[in-house]
Amino acid sequence: MSEAMEDWTPSGVAGADLVDGKPVRATIGAIDVFLCRLGDRLFALDNRCNHMGGPLHRGVVKGGPQPTVTCPVHGSIFWLADGRLIRGPASRPQPAYEIRVNGGMIEVRSSPRPT
Ligand code: FES
Repeated sequence: MSEAMEDWTPSGVAGADLVDGKPVRATIGAIDVFLCRLGDRLFALDNRCNHMGGPLHRGVVKGGPQPTVTCPVHGSIFWLADGRLIRGPASRPQPAYEIRVNGGMIEVRSSPRPT
């Protein structure tokens, strides 16, 4: 993970502004965070692909029981729920964050890496 956010941290993005299936980038301190809504589910990952820094908010999001994002640069695929790597060329999971709406605003905090 590029930087820990042990406590809930405001993203500056209103929950109502997150359009279904249209991810956005939020800059929180030094971290670019990918935020995405799919129905009533919310997801947050590091926005810079761990392969070569591709902007995941510009990637393709697919829904279903295990929603994914495909990096727009070289096509790595990550699970939105926990950043698990589904397909390379990336070779490790994408850092994922817990996400909630508090007072109408999206907040994120660090979550454990998948094992
Ligand atoms: S930068 Fe994302 S797969 Fe290469």
